[in-house]
Amino acid sequence: MNQDDDAGPNRWGVSRRNFLGGSLAAAAAVTPLTTGQVEAAGAASALTVDGVAQVTVRAAVNGAPVTLRVDPRATLLDTLRERLDLKGTKKGCDRGQCGACTVHIDGQRVLSCLTLAATTTGRKITTIEGLADGDRLHPMQQAFIDHDGLQCGFCTPGQIMSAVAMVDDEGGADSDDEIRERMSGNICRCSAYPRIVDSIRDAQQVMR
Ligand code: FES
Ligand code: FES
Repeated sequence: MNQDDDAGPNRWGVSRRNFLGGSLAAAAAVTPLTTGQVEAAGAASALTVDGVAQVTVRAAVNGAPVTLRVDPRATLLDTLRERLDLKGTKKGCDRGQCGACTVHIDGQRVLSCLTLAATTTGRKITTIEGLADGDRLHPMQQAFIDHDGLQCGFCTPGQIMSAVAMVDDEGGADSDDEIRERMSGNICRCSAYPRIVDSIRDAQQVMR
């Protein structure tokens, strides 16, 4: 993992804080779609599109029941972003190499770009928009703000979702080296790694 961190906190600190705080506040304020809304969206979908039979998916997304008809080839990433307007989950490489699209399925971290939406019936899906408890940020979100654990912020939702599952579902890490190893699937092109590790180390102490 690249440890370079070429932008000091004074260079970007205020704007990053404002950016992340604003993003996370917006995410916390997202109003979940009602069952009626999502069922209406599903009902409006054709049974076939371009000759491809659509499949019905029923899942819980950020605690809300969702029913959609989807193309059997549609990824969970595209479905979240394009059908449910949950754009906090980012599309980086779209081929399983960067971790930007990480979400939770039944509490486990998964790459939504490699997951077919059609396989998620009966599962509980959590995205970055569903991580906060009302207006109260998740400890991992708060730690990323406190430590300026980002620069451009593009990788940050994936970093946070991956780190939460690493601690909650997988027991966490006992050293900075282990944090780096277990987060190695989440790439940060800005090389904000030192502050990402600081954020995860501190959040883990709160979560454990
Ligand atoms: S967008 Fe899924 S791993 Fe990069
Ligand atoms: S903060 Fe820019 S890619 Fe990680």
